[in-house]
Amino acid sequence: MAATNKNQKPHAIMISFHLQGHIIPFVNLALKLASKGFSVTFAHLDFIHHQISKSHYNTTEIDIFAQARSSGLDINYTTISDGFPVEFDRAANFNQHLESFMYKFPDKVDEFVGNLISSSDSNYFLLADTFSIWSAKIAKKYGLVNVSFWTEPALVFSLYYHLDLLRENGHVPVNGRTEIVDYVPGIPSINTKDFMSYFQDSDLQLLHKIIFRAFDVVKSADFILCNTVHELEIAIISALQQKQPFYSIGPLFPADFSKTAIARSLLPESNSDEWLNSKSPGSVLYVSFGSLAKIDKKVIFEIAGGLLLGEVNFIWVIRPGIVDFDSGGIFPEGFEDVTRDRGLIIPWCAQNQVLLNPAIGGFLTHCGWNSVLESVWCGVPMICYPLFTDQITNRKLVVDDWRVGLNLCDGEFITRDEVKEKIGILMSGKRSDELRKEIGKVRKILENALTKDGSSERNFDCFVKDVSDEIF
Ligand code: UDX
Repeated sequence: MAATNKNQKPHAIMISFHLQGHIIPFVNLALKLASKGFSVTFAHLDFIHHQISKSHYNTTEIDIFAQARSSGLDINYTTISDGFPVEFDRAANFNQHLESFMYKFPDKVDEFVGNLISSSDSNYFLLADTFSIWSAKIAKKYGLVNVSFWTEPALVFSLYYHLDLLRENGHVPVNGRTEIVDYVPGIPSINTKDFMSYFQDSDLQLLHKIIFRAFDVVKSADFILCNTVHELEIAIISALQQKQPFYSIGPLFPADFSKTAIARSLLPESNSDEWLNSKSPGSVLYVSFGSLAKIDKKVIFEIAGGLLLGEVNFIWVIRPGIVDFDSGGIFPEGFEDVTRDRGLIIPWCAQNQVLLNPAIGGFLTHCGWNSVLESVWCGVPMICYPLFTDQITNRKLVVDDWRVGLNLCDGEFITRDEVKEKIGILMSGKRSDELRKEIGKVRKILENALTKDGSSERNFDCFVKDVSDEIF
């Protein structure tokens, strides 16, 4: 264990994982830890810093922490290189980037942590995203308490955690079967079709290997933090707590929910306030498939067809690069006419701000975990069109368990008729009222968890105490 200095508070070293859906809750976690009196050194990869700065013109990621410092929080912000120049096209060289992340980046982290530790006698501990496969090795080398942060639901964590058990029982890889699994601790029953995409195929890519390795590494973490709420996943969390100290501390939202995206977003945000404010309450469907997934051109075509047939207003985030297309349009004939009045297409937005707008009546979503939590928080029911990774499993929570969303095509090919039908059901009528009633209940659970005596707030304080006890 590293030497401790009783006169100083615990000091978290946080190196963010470079995907948008991980950056947002990780920044929120840093701010929350600092608000509880800890010191924080927060590092982004330098290409992420560059992208955020470029996207926000005068607002850089540094500003968000500078603001926090000026209000008395102890946060230092810095960057770390992943070994490639900032301009290197990581998406186009995905495997090269991943390989380097696995084998070379840990040396950079080692150097970074070693320099930090030798520069002051703070009471450092390591707080890394669960996907950071280097964390256990670095924590061990420097004798640091090792905290792992999981950005997805406990259900998904538990399935990855029990990968060996699922393999022994022949349920992973799934290979197209649909069978009920009832032996994972804390999960009474789950269909194999609802497993994450990385469990579905036998063809293991480098990305699968990284994720599976991450779940070997997490077993040696001293503490695990999860962006979920105890009351939503009681049995799973209790079962995980039998294995390791596991704290549900979500939803990790910023203090001002409506201003979340600035300086956490990798892309510039279009402002759609004026357009939304011109629409009547509950009349607009928000459509977005998150920060990561690619979508087939045919799928875009069918969704656009459904929006064209449907009668509702819509605001659709079509992220640059979300669809590969060579030539020709991606929308059906007549679609562009509706976008003059009834629809708005934008490359990126401040999602929380959009979801909060009273004009929004529904969300057609890929079921990314942040989007699910944000939609519940704003009381907006969902149409679920999961694409890959945990999104497949998150759909089960939204539709089957909480009953606050509708399935779209359930793994079959999407059609414009079904898109139109589901939009109609979501936006008005008896089923829509039921969904709204149920989402109000789940929202209340989130709200309660964040009150002073709520479960997430108490768990956070408990973590703060436990990690302090472990350090001193
Ligand atoms: C993926 C996983 O599916 C998710 O479950 C995991 O936790 C992170 O990685 P991603 O595609 O990034 O998800 O989706 P999501 O988790 O929903 O995160 C996207 C974030 O970007 C949300 O916080 C959302 O508010 C934000 N966003 C999205 C914007 O600010 N503007 C947009 O236009 C779209």
